[in-house]
Amino acid sequence: MCGIVGYIGKEQAAPILLSGLEKLEYRGYDSAGIAVLGDNKINMVKTKGRLKVLFEKIHGGTDIKGSIGIGHTRWATHGAPSDINSHPHMSNGGKIAVVHNGIIENYLKLKASLEEKGYKFVSDTDTEVISHLIDYYYNGNMIDAIIKTIHRIEGSYALGIISSEHPGELFAVRKASPLIVGVGNGENFIASDIPAIISRTRDVYFLEDNEIVWFKGDTIKILDADKNEVKKDIFHVDWDVSAAEKGGYEHFMIKEIMEQPKAIEDTVCPRIKNGEIVLDDIKITKEHIEKLKRIYIIGCGSAYHVGVVGKYVIEKLTRIPVEVDLASEFRYRDPLVGKDDLVIVISQSGETADTLAALREAKKRGARVLSVVNVVGSSIARDSDDVLYTWAGPEISVATTKAYSTQMQALYLIAIHLGINNGHITEEQKNDLLAEMQTIPSKVSKILTNVSSLQSYASKKYSSKDVFFLGRGLDYCVALEGSLKLKEISYIHSEAYAAGELKHGTISLIEDGTLVIALATQKDLFEKILSNIKEVKARGATVFAIALEGNTEIEKEADFVVYLPKIESIFTPALTVIPLQIFSYYMAVNKGCDVDKPRNLAKSVTVE
Ligand code: G6P
Repeated sequence: MCGIVGYIGKEQAAPILLSGLEKLEYRGYDSAGIAVLGDNKINMVKTKGRLKVLFEKIHGGTDIKGSIGIGHTRWATHGAPSDINSHPHMSNGGKIAVVHNGIIENYLKLKASLEEKGYKFVSDTDTEVISHLIDYYYNGNMIDAIIKTIHRIEGSYALGIISSEHPGELFAVRKASPLIVGVGNGENFIASDIPAIISRTRDVYFLEDNEIVWFKGDTIKILDADKNEVKKDIFHVDWDVSAAEKGGYEHFMIKEIMEQPKAIEDTVCPRIKNGEIVLDDIKITKEHIEKLKRIYIIGCGSAYHVGVVGKYVIEKLTRIPVEVDLASEFRYRDPLVGKDDLVIVISQSGETADTLAALREAKKRGARVLSVVNVVGSSIARDSDDVLYTWAGPEISVATTKAYSTQMQALYLIAIHLGINNGHITEEQKNDLLAEMQTIPSKVSKILTNVSSLQSYASKKYSSKDVFFLGRGLDYCVALEGSLKLKEISYIHSEAYAAGELKHGTISLIEDGTLVIALATQKDLFEKILSNIKEVKARGATVFAIALEGNTEIEKEADFVVYLPKIESIFTPALTVIPLQIFSYYMAVNKGCDVDKPRNLAKSVTVE
């Protein structure tokens, strides 16, 4: 959601900014722009539409001269996507240019007061108040002007700023929106995320709220809001450039689907040593675990769906009651969370605004927070008491696949760890659970070797208008994710239902030919779901079922069946989701959708 790149060095900035922005396309955007300092003035070009429109407009950047600049991809919040509303935004007179990710909540009040002082606004954005405010406070010292500005603005922001009065400098600041500093060789960067700069440097600084970065020549100074210099350690990113490239696949999504066995292995294997779970990263004590009254799991989107799986699994293995909450609801519902509770926060990006706010709410109320995060050093990771990183590597496709799968593995690890520590898992059960869990990567690989039947089934079904996903128990939890995956990338309406709920309304929507995807992997519930399949078949539905190998009885009812390798019921979600991801992918491809960047969606949702 909005991407920022900034460059200061010796090369021409514009092509570097464009290529950085390209790497942030996954975040979701509807317009783009850059501003470059050259000949002591700011040259700005911005446009509605995809980056290639901007690219063509400035001939790949060759039209714009200068070696310091800022770039932006905008995901509209205040004001429709348009050339004018695109970033950067300039102060009147063109002295200052700003790119912004986040939302300025008090912008209307600030706008009115700036208008009274004679400032003219040209856009509908909240961001424009920032360039005018900096200009208003500027009296020769940019740092002072930025500090005064951040004292006036409320909300969230990551800002890249240049000024024609400071032709060798670049400025940045952030609060509650992501921004990193890339430290290169004779050149430095700012960016919303690592893929934007990884081809030029792997050394980064993570910034705390309201730290101001002042780049001058090839020096970097980081200051707090009282202008004290802050010393930081460099974080070295060890994944290689190809991890953020498509590597021969048509889309990031299919590449990331295929990467799942490795991502799962990387997340799980280092944490099982000599038959024991070793969670070095988690400091919560056995005494604390024994006293836990309740567990809350919080996330948004697919991360929330992982939480639903987590509830079933943790309750089963620990007998501790678990509540799963959407972060956007938890933060405002005056939750009963307190010091005897553990809050598990799940987030791929570690920057989702609602999830971060929910985390802070839980901490304020005394709960211990354990987060499951993919992006190292992200805000959620830094604000948590404990972090269990998922080692999925960079996930570029907006629709998550490998992050979802690794988050699920992290929850299995947590559930088993808690169960061992509170005495609900015996030594023998632990051994069985860990042995079974370690079979998951090879079973996922096996499913991935046979995508062609799903591909050809999708080629027959992609014109479906509505699709219903049914499941019971853990199958229902995965149905939620399967349905989201399908609708978000293929724009086909779909809903997930607990199969037992069918008769309470949904069944009236089943007509001749309606596609129903029935998940039938739960041993104890197999007969029940078979009955539900019969019910929809009797009303004309076409049924695509997913079952475990050997359960061929399902073929009598279903029109198309995908079999999964046998696995204990508790671990089936790790396998069931895979054919659903593949099916959604091919449905979207057949429809000609922009699979990696579905319309209106953003990968990292940094606004409420
Ligand atoms: C967006 C993404 C989803 C993701 C959700 C939560 O909606 O498109 O794939 O599940 O945000 O993101 P997070 O980074 O917190 O996991």
